[in-house]
Amino acid sequence: GAVVLETKYLLVSQANGVGTIRLNRPQVLNALNLALMDELVRTLKEMERDEEIRCVLLTGGSRCFAAGADIDEMAEASSVEMLLKDQFAQWEYIRRFSKPLLAAVSGYALGGGCELAMACDMIIASETAEFGQPEIKLGVMPGAGGTQRLTRAVGKARAMEMVLTARSLSAREALAAGLINRIVPVELLEQEAREWAEEVAAQAPVAVRLAKQSVLKALDTPLETGLDYEQKLFFFLFSTEDQKEGMRAFKEKRRPRFQGK
Ligand code: CAA
Repeated sequence: GAVVLETKYLLVSQANGVGTIRLNRPQVLNALNLALMDELVRTLKEMERDEEIRCVLLTGGSRCFAAGADIDEMAEASSVEMLLKDQFAQWEYIRRFSKPLLAAVSGYALGGGCELAMACDMIIASETAEFGQPEIKLGVMPGAGGTQRLTRAVGKARAMEMVLTARSLSAREALAAGLINRIVPVELLEQEAREWAEEVAAQAPVAVRLAKQSVLKALDTPLETGLDYEQKLFFFLFSTEDQKEGMRAFKEKRRPRFQGK
């Protein structure tokens, strides 16, 4: 069934196996307040359950993906209030989301906006995209992965520069640094991102899910443990009908019809 949710800050749609979530709080450059993040997590939970959705595309506006956590919401908070509010609990769900998450980024992806893009599995950017962690200018530091995922993606030297001086990366620099997958002209971003998401959505869903898990595992396990983990998942896939179908279709020189079983 179609994902239907009343949301204030998101535009949600679904077609051809792809669920699309558009951040839609343009008057404050899609600042990520708690209510928006709550809607995002609720929508992802719906999309997790919906078998027709096999890939999720997360995007913003053409001028801005997201300019970070909502500064108005945090400015006067005490550390105990921040601790009790536990805003990053919502981010934990994004980390655990099992289907591929593709971010399409145009314009600013700053602070929590950059962290949200990095929490996705792949990033496609427009030529105007800008990635940065400017929290240091606010007297704080990144809190949702900006010192961790960024460092793993671009290495220590660049991460230090971005986090300590707030210098952001252009789309071209982000591509060269390995932070993003590809760059397209602004006017083509939506179409290219949709086509790319549909390509992922057409693959065997169980294999996609386990392959995603396995790649993420590489970021925090020693090689031997990771290789072991990978092998077990690989063997497991031979209990799926999609494996039989995929290999038979290859032999019969036809397109496979994957069922997610
Ligand atoms: N939170 C709340 N409001 C924000 C916001 C944010 N992160 N970013 C922008 N806005 C608001 C502005 O206050 C402004 O509102 P008003 O019209 O009411 O004044 C509106 O959005 C438009 O923004 P600007 O007028 O500033 O637009 P600009 O084009 O001049 O500048 C910008 C764009 C460079 C992105 C600038 O808005 C900016 O620096 N934003 C803050 C970026 C930032 O510091 N992000 C990190 C947040 S902290 C964080 O994310 C913590 C974490 O790790 C989770």
